[in-house]
Amino acid sequence: LKFLCYSNDGVDEHMIWLVGLKNIFARQLPNMPKEYIVRLVMDRTHKSMMVIRNNIVVGGITYRPYASQRFGEIAFCAITADEQVKGYGTRLMNHLKQHARDADGLTHFLTYADNNAVGYFVKQGFTKEITLDKERWQGYIKDYDGGILMECKIDQKLPYVDLAT
Ligand code: ACO
Repeated sequence: LKFLCYSNDGVDEHMIWLVGLKNIFARQLPNMPKEYIVRLVMDRTHKSMMVIRNNIVVGGITYRPYASQRFGEIAFCAITADEQVKGYGTRLMNHLKQHARDADGLTHFLTYADNNAVGYFVKQGFTKEITLDKERWQGYIKDYDGGILMECKIDQKLPYVDLAT
C-alpha cells in the first residue's frame, strides 16, 4: 500500500491514477457534477493524495493548498466502495496532514463535509467550530450549500505517519 501525492504534471502514471481517482469520486459523490470533479482533479492548483494498491488507485483526497494563507481546502475525499471501513480513509488523512505540513507549510484544513461524512471527519480531528481567522480564508473558499464547513488544525510536531515503514 502506497500513499502518493501528485497534481496534473503530465506524467503518464500519475495521469492514470488521477483519472482512476476522478472515477471513484464520481461514483462515491453522486451529488457532485462530474464535470466539476474532472475540472478540480485535473486543475494544476489542486493536488491529490492517493491510496495506491498493486499500482491501482483505491481512494484519495483532492485539495487546494493556499500557500500564502497556510491553509488547504479539501474538495473531495473518497475510498472505493469495496475498500471502505478498512482503515484506509484514516491512514489517507494522516498522510495528507503530514504532507500538507511538511511539503506545503499548511497549518489548517477546511472542508465542506457532506452530512453523512461528518462522523468520518470528526474522527480525523475536524470540528464544526472554525478557529482560523476569517481574514485568512474569506474570499478564498467559496460558500457551498450542500455541506457543513469543518476545520482541522494540523499539529506542527506530531508524527502523523511513520515514513520508515
Ligand atoms: N460516518 C461516520 N463514521 C464513519 C463514516 C461515516 N460516513 N465513514 C467512516 N467512518 C468511521 C469508521 O467507522 C471508522 O471509525 P473507527 O475508527 O471508530 O473504526 C473511522 O471513521 C475511519 O474509518 P476508515 O475505515 O478509515 O474510513 P474509510 O476507509 O471507509 O473512508 C470515507 C471513509 C472516505 C468517508 C469513505 O467511507 C467514503 O468514501 N465514503 C463515501 C464518500 C464520502 O462520503 N466522502 C466524503 C464526502 S465529503 C468531501 O468529500 C469533502
